[in-house]
Amino acid sequence: MSIGLAANADRNVALESPPEFLDAVTALRALASDDLEAVNAQIITQMQSPVGLIPDLAGHLINAGGKRIRPVLTLITARMFHYDGDNHIKLAAAVELIHGATLLHDDVVDDSALRRGSETANVIWGNKESVLVGDFLFSRAFELMVAAEDLRVLQVLSRASGIIAQGEVLQLATQKNIKTTFEQYLDVVDAKTAALFAAAAQSGALIANCKTEQQEAMRSYGRNLGIAYQLIDDALDYAGFEENLGKTVGDDFREGKMTLPVIYAIARARPEEKDFWRRVIADGRQNEDDFAHALQLMERDNAIADTVACARQFAATALNDLAKAPSNDYSAALSDLVETSVSRAS
Ligand code: IPE
Ligand code: IPE
Ligand code: MG
Ligand code: MG
Repeated sequence: MSIGLAANADRNVALESPPEFLDAVTALRALASDDLEAVNAQIITQMQSPVGLIPDLAGHLINAGGKRIRPVLTLITARMFHYDGDNHIKLAAAVELIHGATLLHDDVVDDSALRRGSETANVIWGNKESVLVGDFLFSRAFELMVAAEDLRVLQVLSRASGIIAQGEVLQLATQKNIKTTFEQYLDVVDAKTAALFAAAAQSGALIANCKTEQQEAMRSYGRNLGIAYQLIDDALDYAGFEENLGKTVGDDFREGKMTLPVIYAIARARPEEKDFWRRVIADGRQNEDDFAHALQLMERDNAIADTVACARQFAATALNDLAKAPSNDYSAALSDLVETSVSRAS
């Protein structure tokens, strides 16, 4: 069964999806299971503090689960290139701590109420608390990166954390701007999401000291996978289901985010529909039925389907990048991750 648009009792548009993506994530994690346990233990150690609110709030996010895709990329790429030390554990933990910090900040910025199937930290503890604990997790990630004693990886990961912040700020500038172009949207996605996927995959290759060409290929693999992943995430923010995602569907619409489904829908809108998009996105004046109407227009004009198609193109490039890696169980699992990520529902 492939991804497609289906009629749904509650929705005009829904993304149908097979379970293979989570199977691919599970398979990747199984290949790195001992390492991943060590990473989780390292993360728990890093979030400790005598200030009780910090482990409480951070633990709420960390223990709620999360797929751990980014740290697994670091672990698997290191193993794929025959790394036999233990610094990949520290680096993978640092990657997930950076991700966790950005999620805490992102949920404040997006005013989101649900994350990993639980109430967000900003709802439970407040915005100030979430921002500050996010900062704490960032600094703990940097301690780990320093402890790995590899300046090249320190540079790659520290640069990525700056780029993520830049991406989130850039997104603020496009929010509610209905003139946002595909290129501007892609710049945001490249920075806020793909940068960490790229750095995570490159870091594993770097510490394994493989050829520069292979390090670059893994960086490119991570980047293209990350772009595809975010494009699907943006499709799911309209056409997904809360129970699968563990996040609230419709947050992007409510916030006037100029994601690809909206960019396509606005570009394809009939003249009399332009006012609708101006009111709901640019002016942020929304009624109860507006989300359903937006979905109807997106369905008619293939805005979700073409977002998925665009994700597929980036996924295809990621698979090309992977051709430069050794052919083994690790690269096969990385390939499955890409192929299934474009039909994911969670
Ligand atoms: C959420 O990332 C943020 C995006 C880039 C869409 P994940 O979907 O990897 O979230 P967790 O870590 O599994 O919760
Ligand atoms: C994901 O941002 C990227 C970062 C967290 C930096 P989004 O706002 O698109 O992701 P979700 O939907 O909240 O997970
Ligand atoms: Mg968000
Ligand atoms: Mg966001």
